Amino acid sequence: MNMFSEVGRERVESYAIDLSFSMRDKLFFFDKVDTKTFVDYGCADGEMGRALRRLDGSIRYFGYDMSPAMIARGRGIDPGIELYDRWDELTSSLDDEPATLILSSIIHEVYSYGNLASISTFLRRTLRNARWRRIVIRDMIPDAGVYRRSDLRDVEKIRAVAGSRLAEYEVRRGSIEMQANLLGFLLRYRYESDWARELDEDYMPLTERQLMMLIPEDLTVTYVSRRTPSFIKKRARLDFGIKNFDDVHLSVVLSRS
Ligand SMILES: C[S@@+](CC[C@H](N)C(=O)[O-])C[C@H]1O[C@@H](n2cnc3c(N)ncnc32)[C@H](O)[C@@H]1O
Repeated sequence: MNMFSEVGRERVESYAIDLSFSMRDKLFFFDKVDTKTFVDYGCADGEMGRALRRLDGSIRYFGYDMSPAMIARGRGIDPGIELYDRWDELTSSLDDEPATLILSSIIHEVYSYGNLASISTFLRRTLRNARWRRIVIRDMIPDAGVYRRSDLRDVEKIRAVAGSRLAEYEVRRGSIEMQANLLGFLLRYRYESDWARELDEDYMPLTERQLMMLIPEDLTVTYVSRRTPSFIKKRARLDFGIKNFDDVHLSVVLSRS
């Protein structure tokens, strides 16, 4: 379950560098929330905290991640950032200031790797916890329309150049003649360093409708948009000639009145 507990420093570092590419997209919420305290669930090494504090040095950032290796990597860099690998320790350090909870690329991991017990723990701490004034979500959560037949011209373009990695992908995750699987391949083929784990992970375990059904009635959706970062689309165009790429990255702000 804890994907970083048994791997070396090298992998932790290359993963963290990869994550930083899309930081600007990830900070979509910066001008849409009104708190100075941020709690980041699944924070990796806390890079988002450092990016937030570069934008506003008065922000206080608390990060939690189940990976002690990631937390150790980010600790001690910035005194305004507190990182924890135990949730109870993080919550006992919080005061009563209104806080925004950040759920950035964590929901799909919890649903992909979790079981009933760990998913319900996650929901109790996050979407179902009245402690959070705002909750911001950014994740690969597509519209159900991606579960359609792919354009066969796109399938052919990918098959012409993808090689053995595509064969492994289709055995593990299904045919790219289904658009959701085709997008899944385009979203992950560039992660060469840990291909086996990428194959294991379900990138899009929830649709937008399923996510919305998890949101309690006392939260209101105050912002929603869907846009896959342009660098991902550009790579698909350059590497395979794919021009039509569904937007699967959903950004949401939830507010409690
Ligand atoms: C895809 S990374 C996202 C990192 C960061 N939030 C971002 O957007 O760049 C997911 C992180 O969530 C952590 N994670 C996965 N499942 C978790 C869980 N159930 N509880 C806490 N952390 C979890 C992983 O260790 C990993 O660091």
